[in-house]
Amino acid sequence: MGLCVVLFFPTLAYLLLCTTPSAADILYPYGASYDTPTSKVDDGSTLITLSTSIKLFGNVSTLMHVNNNGLLSFSSGISAYTPTHLPVTDGNPFLAPFWADVNNALAGDIFYRQSNNDTSLLSRAATDIRTYFGLQTFSATWVFVATWSNVAFFGSSSSSTTVNTFQAVLISNGSFTFVMFNYGNILWTTGRGSGGDIKGTGGKPALAGVNSGLNTGYYEIPTSLTADIINITSTTNVNVNGRWVIRVDKLHPRDVNGVIALKGNKDIK
Ligand SMILES: *[C@@H]1O[C@H](CO)[C@@H](O)[C@H](O)[C@H]1NC(C)=O
Ligand SMILES: *[C@@H]1O[C@H](CO)[C@@H](O)[C@H](O)[C@H]1NC(C)=O
Ligand SMILES: *[C@@H]1O[C@H](CO)[C@@H](O)[C@H](O)[C@H]1NC(C)=O
Ligand SMILES: *[C@@H]1O[C@H](CO)[C@@H](O)[C@H](O)[C@H]1NC(C)=O
Repeated sequence: MGLCVVLFFPTLAYLLLCTTPSAADILYPYGASYDTPTSKVDDGSTLITLSTSIKLFGNVSTLMHVNNNGLLSFSSGISAYTPTHLPVTDGNPFLAPFWADVNNALAGDIFYRQSNNDTSLLSRAATDIRTYFGLQTFSATWVFVATWSNVAFFGSSSSSTTVNTFQAVLISNGSFTFVMFNYGNILWTTGRGSGGDIKGTGGKPALAGVNSGLNTGYYEIPTSLTADIINITSTTNVNVNGRWVIRVDKLHPRDVNGVIALKGNKDIK
């Protein structure tokens, strides 16, 4: 949504200034004043105990790992820095806004928080889910926000400004679970250990998607593992560029129309 500002001048003339939607509008609030930072280490993971259990791919989860390389995982931490096509069938479910070789020891911060009582956060999440999924009575009881803020790629120079900002927001009402991926700014796709060049492109580019850990029950966002994923800020399944939202409580992830995203299909529009 754009922001409008009305400026009044002594002459009583006024000027109406409107902006087009910006990266800042896509991202839920984040940063040092809201969140806990993770440690700045290459390929690191942080284990979090959820304040409530959530339904995920047909099971119940109470633990989550925030992995520096752009994924949330639920059985164990993930240090793998080169993404692969889904499904990954090792029994470790994950939600990956942008799986690639982050090195925030060079630049950037990874933040997280969870809440069951921040009313503005819960109501923003509920409004988004009601709008996108047509669930007029949905109300969120728990929201988790992880943000990769201005993170550098492995092998970039320490003064590089080629950094990415993206977010994963998990939203639950106790039985339905949704994941929202928000892309603020994507300037690189590949670390140098994954065949990437000094600009952070080429090689094996990033993957975005959700993976149950079984050989069915997963969804890859189109352009994953191609150079075009650099433009994920201009793609969406909810008519808001730079945002993807997928329902993930059942084994098969579902799109906004309730269509099951099965192996290899492209049902999520
Ligand atoms: C929300 O919950 C947290 C964690 O239990 C608590 O520290 C905080 O005071 C609560 N805030 C409000 C506004 O109730
Ligand atoms: C969660 O939301 C869905 C859709 O609005 C609703 O059908 C379901 O009953 C809700 N679950 C709980 C535990 O409130
Ligand atoms: C859910 O849990 C059952 C029992 O532990 C397990 O067999 C199954 O593979 C799990 N499903 C997923 C998607 O991990
Ligand atoms: C990304 O989008 C820009 C602007 O439309 C385009 O010029 C560029 O070729 C695209 N890059 C890739 C790798 O698709």
